[in-house]
Amino acid sequence: MRFDVLTLFPEMFPGYLGQSLLKRAIDADLVAVHLHNIRDWAHDRHQSVDDRPFGGGPGMVLKVEPVVEAVEAVEKQVDSGGHLVMLTPQGKRLDQPTVESLADYSQLTLLCGRYEGFDERVRTILQPEEISVGDYVLNGGEVAAMNIIDAVVRLIPGVLGDAESPIQDSFSGENRHRLEFSQYTRPREYRGFKVPEVLLTGNHEEIAAWRQQESTDRTRQRREDLIE
Ligand code: ADE
Repeated sequence: MRFDVLTLFPEMFPGYLGQSLLKRAIDADLVAVHLHNIRDWAHDRHQSVDDRPFGGGPGMVLKVEPVVEAVEAVEKQVDSGGHLVMLTPQGKRLDQPTVESLADYSQLTLLCGRYEGFDERVRTILQPEEISVGDYVLNGGEVAAMNIIDAVVRLIPGVLGDAESPIQDSFSGENRHRLEFSQYTRPREYRGFKVPEVLLTGNHEEIAAWRQQESTDRTRQRREDLIE
């Protein structure tokens, strides 16, 4: 799967992309991430990408021409089967079903905003899917784009080993409406806190039943909204 990220701050990404699961997926050619600096499509010699809002008000607005032309240039580089996503707090809130739908595309263009947002004509012309990662305001779309890449990449076949299968994750498959049960590893006791006895019995049925109950209780306590 290919991601094209359009941003004013491409330098933010290599650290994240160079570690752990993302690095492994990129090294294995399962994922490619292309970074594009929107400033490269600025029209003037000062390379301006933002300007004051018509009508007044605080902050700066991202200009329509560099953004539209950057997206069009990227779209020329990729085959059909791609999809344009704009990261914005005004978008639809990201959840696991949306992540699953994004994972069906062969390419995603992730458009990151800054400042007071995009000139509205960016939306009119490009008709992106607008996505928010939550009801709070980030300094820009970059962390939100990493969030999308991170969640989508887990669903690409071959990225996770069998042992890490995403089917077990909270919010997916059978667990769509429940949180994960609690997990323990060695030592069996720490500062007087013991691992639940049932997990040490080796009785798979009892363990499964205990986990199911744990998961239900936890969901009820923390996320009543998930229970239908
Ligand atoms: N840009 C700023 N805040 C954002 C959010 N919550 N989601 C996506 N993009 C953003």
